Amino acid sequence: MNILVTGGAGFIGSHTVVALTEAGFRPVILDDFSNSEQGVLDGLEQIMGSKPIIYAENCHNRETLRRIIREEKIEGVIHFAAFKAVGESMQKPLEYYDNNLGSLIVLLQTMLECGVSNLIFSSSCTVYGEPDILPVTEETPVQPASSVYGNTKQIGEEILCDTVAAGNTLKIISLRYFNPIGAHPSAAIGELPRGVPGNLIPFITQTAAGQRASLTIFGHDYPTPDGTCIRDYIHVLDLAEAHVAALQFLLKKDIDNYYDVFNIGTGEGVSVMQLVKTFEQVSGQALNYKLGPRRSGDVTAVYADVQKSAEQLGWKAKRSVQQALADAWRWQQAIAQKTR
Ligand code: UD1
Repeated sequence: MNILVTGGAGFIGSHTVVALTEAGFRPVILDDFSNSEQGVLDGLEQIMGSKPIIYAENCHNRETLRRIIREEKIEGVIHFAAFKAVGESMQKPLEYYDNNLGSLIVLLQTMLECGVSNLIFSSSCTVYGEPDILPVTEETPVQPASSVYGNTKQIGEEILCDTVAAGNTLKIISLRYFNPIGAHPSAAIGELPRGVPGNLIPFITQTAAGQRASLTIFGHDYPTPDGTCIRDYIHVLDLAEAHVAALQFLLKKDIDNYYDVFNIGTGEGVSVMQLVKTFEQVSGQALNYKLGPRRSGDVTAVYADVQKSAEQLGWKAKRSVQQALADAWRWQQAIAQKTR
């Protein structure tokens, strides 16, 4: 079965292409490489044993979508393509609303026009803001977004919910990702941030590799056991497999109008300090870090209740944080070798 994967050359997208292939699907990548590198295609070929199918175009274009959906006989879509930098989204709100929501609307219209029913949408635990009760379930109230990026995820979910409620023949799942980390154990694909990484793990691995002088831990006076923030770090391959489980669930569903949201995390909260210490153990490297002030917009703690995804999708994260950090470190060393 042919599955369109928009943003399939990105971090989560590329790992999902591998998981889809392993599960017997035929992924068709649509990616304009605005925030990914062509080299990911070689990495995918190395893992999968054949060249990935790729359309190097922008997914905001109706003609492009129509042509690919028809040419490739697409039966389902996984929509990753989006801008994702929280800080940048505040500087460039119109670019973010246009790219993240404009492309979603065009995609939905084209799916309806071409008779494609199944869609998985990339949402984020950012919709829960600073939750009062942990872990967060899918019933936990959504909070007003604290960034334009977060707002594009919330509005994206609303667009999907409203579209399905209007009675179309669409079956849609929004997956609310917690913090994806790690890389493929082959070190052929992984996270490739451009410039100074905003996210914790690439900053840690680049510091350990000597590319950055030191990591700053943002805040050590939070009301948590060690004073640092708590997140739910999930191996990107577990996250990738959640997309396959969600797709299989949609394909089996024998109603033709459906929308729901699922948390995709491990269910375990890990602090920044615990993560740094675990990285040191796993890599055998002492990490140069210092304690710094809080980063604005960060929440104290968020981790997932994963009962709903386990019960309904039959999916659970299988890999440990240790394994994710070991894979991220192996990947970092592989990129350092390639660029040497
Ligand atoms: C961020 C976004 C989230 C988005 C996700 C995916 C915010 C508020 N949230 O999640 O919406 O879906 O990225 O990219 O930006 N940290 C440090 N030092 C660093 C970097 C991070 O201490 O140099 C800490 C942060 O304070 C945080 C934790 O590490 O406590 C994780 O940070 P990060 O990897 O940026 O993810 P989130 O902020 O959780």
